[in-house]
Amino acid sequence: MNSPRSLTVAAVQTSPVFGRVDANLDAALALVPGGCDLAVLPELFASGYQFRSRAEAASFAEDLAPDAASGPVTTRLAAHAAATGTTLVAGLVEREGANEGLRLFNSALLVRPDGTRDVYRKVHLFMDEKLLFDPGDRPFPVFAACGTKVGLMICFDWIFPEAARSLALGGARVIAHPCNLVLPWCQEAMVTRCLENAVHAVTANRVGCENRTGNELAFSGGSQVVAPRGERLARLPSTGTGAAVARIAPGVPGTQVTLRNDLLADRRPGLYRG
Ligand code: ACM
Repeated sequence: MNSPRSLTVAAVQTSPVFGRVDANLDAALALVPGGCDLAVLPELFASGYQFRSRAEAASFAEDLAPDAASGPVTTRLAAHAAATGTTLVAGLVEREGANEGLRLFNSALLVRPDGTRDVYRKVHLFMDEKLLFDPGDRPFPVFAACGTKVGLMICFDWIFPEAARSLALGGARVIAHPCNLVLPWCQEAMVTRCLENAVHAVTANRVGCENRTGNELAFSGGSQVVAPRGERLARLPSTGTGAAVARIAPGVPGTQVTLRNDLLADRRPGLYRG
């Protein structure tokens, strides 16, 4: 593995078939490049995206509490991380409680090679996700992983600048961003998110279409790794699977943009609304 100052990161672009969890896991993990420190897989990468009902989403859910028995997706991710030394971030359905108290989250799991793991629950639900999932109930998290600070957000969180800003204020040097993007603007917007926060972002999107509800969704690929000054270090096309791989120095450059300006220290929160 590389020293903490320099990491190899990958945004893995997949094409899952709805409901084929084992095949989707096999295909996604086969795309994770060897020798990576951090690999990000898409949102809901093992199940597929367009659930017909909350009950259907629940049938794919895993309990991600630290003391819970690992579900099939968690088990495969943990085994891959342990075998390869790669920290993985990937999206899946999370359940908490049962029966009347059941809560479902569109979550991202971070799994380290030593088996430790952390979770983010998507805060800004997109479209029909509001009918399926409970909104995330915890602040945007930053975790120590692969020798740096990794912040997590999921897909539509991109359109709220507060998400990436919260992660930057929490010390994130790399944003891991699992996606199932259908709107056309995120890949461009993430350039600005990186620039305004001096962070790297690894945005992993899927390709292909789903139409299980009469509302066809076409996923836009374009998985990418963006650097703190907005440079795209790697980018995949809008079709096809693969991995956008880049070598990054997570702490460089920092938040100072001129001799007299710092992106975080120069903020004027007292003058901002809300
Ligand atoms: C999205 O948040 N999956 C667009």
